[in-house]
Amino acid sequence: MCGIVGYAGPAVDGKALDVVMEGLARLEYRGYDSAGVALVCDGDVVSDKRAGKLANLRGALEAAPPPSSATAIGHTRWATHGGPTDANAHPHRGGDHDQIAVVHNGIIENFHALKNELLAAGVEFRSETDTEVAAHLVARAYDEVGDLTEAMRQVVGRLEGAFTLLAVHADSPNTVVAARRNSPLVVGVGDGETFLGSDVAAFIGYTRHAVELGQDEIVTITPGHYEVITFDGEPTSGKAYEVTWDAASAEKGGYDTFMEKEINEQPAAVRDTLLGRTDDAGELVLDELRIDEERLNAVDRITIVACGTAAYAGMVAKYAIETWARIPVEVSLAHEFRYCDPIIGPNTLVVSISQSGETMDTLMAVRHARELGALTLSICNTHGATIPRESDAVLYTHAGPEIAVASTKAFLAQITAAYVLGLYLTQLKGGTWADEARAVMAALHDVPAKVQEVIDQMGRVKEIARFMADTRSVLFLGRNVGYPVAMEGALKLKELAYIHAEGFAAGELKHGPIALIEPGQPVFIVVPSPDEPHGLHGKVVSNIQEIRARGARTIVVAEEGDEEVVPFADEVIRIPAVAPLLQPLLAVVPLQVFALHLSSAKGLDVDQPRNLAKSVTVE
Ligand code: G6P
Repeated sequence: MCGIVGYAGPAVDGKALDVVMEGLARLEYRGYDSAGVALVCDGDVVSDKRAGKLANLRGALEAAPPPSSATAIGHTRWATHGGPTDANAHPHRGGDHDQIAVVHNGIIENFHALKNELLAAGVEFRSETDTEVAAHLVARAYDEVGDLTEAMRQVVGRLEGAFTLLAVHADSPNTVVAARRNSPLVVGVGDGETFLGSDVAAFIGYTRHAVELGQDEIVTITPGHYEVITFDGEPTSGKAYEVTWDAASAEKGGYDTFMEKEINEQPAAVRDTLLGRTDDAGELVLDELRIDEERLNAVDRITIVACGTAAYAGMVAKYAIETWARIPVEVSLAHEFRYCDPIIGPNTLVVSISQSGETMDTLMAVRHARELGALTLSICNTHGATIPRESDAVLYTHAGPEIAVASTKAFLAQITAAYVLGLYLTQLKGGTWADEARAVMAALHDVPAKVQEVIDQMGRVKEIARFMADTRSVLFLGRNVGYPVAMEGALKLKELAYIHAEGFAAGELKHGPIALIEPGQPVFIVVPSPDEPHGLHGKVVSNIQEIRARGARTIVVAEEGDEEVVPFADEVIRIPAVAPLLQPLLAVVPLQVFALHLSSAKGLDVDQPRNLAKSVTVE
């Protein structure tokens, strides 16, 4: 939610602007309702900002190119305070001669009080944003102390809420100062040039040397150097690391959309998330967890906290972990968990699932869990993000960068990691438990190839999507692990195609939702494996008959060889047979492909759907 870029480098013609614009393009998935840049040029700060996508800003800068500069900041916005207008776009300027420019990600919660104070002092505001308060405050502090880092330090002490703030000043031609609290910020260190970004994608085209900053820290970058201090002014150092992927991973690589590319990367996402987690004997080895076995073995209850797609991954995990490890698992939407009175015992493990590791709702839930004394474990796709850093343990998914706003490969990787965790807890119980864990792990290793088979057979799904471009409502049904898959299918369709869609537990149908069925209503049904041990296959086949009898158009996702569904299906989409609890990794793929192609058929922006942002860093 909002992308931020900063650069301090050599005075090479136009490079600062190029770097910042390229960074913004890579971060546009974080917010895309306006964008802006500020450059320090010859004792002045020059800025431009435009409502709408980055292309609008690019057009404006091409029409009126700014002077060459070695220092720049940029911002791509997802509006919180103040609508998406030119005036509310960042950067915001402050000072008597507009000598300062500030960009911000997050929400300054006490901005009303600060704004009133500034208004009383005669400051004029030009936007409705909370950010402008910070611009004026930094400008005033600079006037007093004559140092941008110290000015920033004094101001952040007065701010409440979540923020990453970047500032440049006309009198500091080679310097960008940045501060972070509860919002993401990483430093990139190049040869004679230094970068700032909301995530490493911002500068991955230039360097893979990254530095992770801690909570409540300020970094001052100059060409090739950076210095970190705490909000109290104590010198500290960030944590340096190497980014393991390259610029090509964050590009479309010949696909029309990032989402299509990411769907195609799903076999690798599952495979890489399993990589290195078993020894030669097939036993799970999770040294990276950093929690001793005794403590994990004592876990008697698990609560999963997550939002959106990640929460559906958690629901899939619940069925699997309860079956394998016989530990009760509850799944809470993170924003609900945070503001209720959860029952946390000394042996409760709170597992957060988050692709970005920055979702504010999830972060707040993790902090709440820690305050209540829970052991916390993060399943995360982003190295060094805030949630894993603040958790007792982390299990990284290895899906690579996910750029499309609607999550696909991260979902499969999250389910895979949660399975690995569940199987590890099962293995810790020893004896036949360990044997079962080993057998499931072996089956899991076969899944990537099966996901590939599904991807290779999506021709008919694409056709169905194109025929259904005018559809106004689609329902999705599933049971057991197929139930969260149905909800994820509905979420994808809402996010991408702006179509009313709902996912139901198929057993619930007769308790109300069946009233929605009228002639022609399209319904996707995720059919459990015929091997499902509770006899759910037959029950779902009956559900298909019930809705078909009432005129529904049934699109059935069923395993190869499952002939029982055929008489009641208008369409059958085949997936390879797999152990019943692993089926979500295959069954969700056609639903993702369906949403993608329906969105394209409607001419919509697949990667950047309206009103959404990939990383939601406000509550
Ligand atoms: C947003 C995105 C969803 C995502 C959710 C959780 O709502 O639009 O696609 O599932 O955030 O994101 P996370 O990064 O925590 O997995």
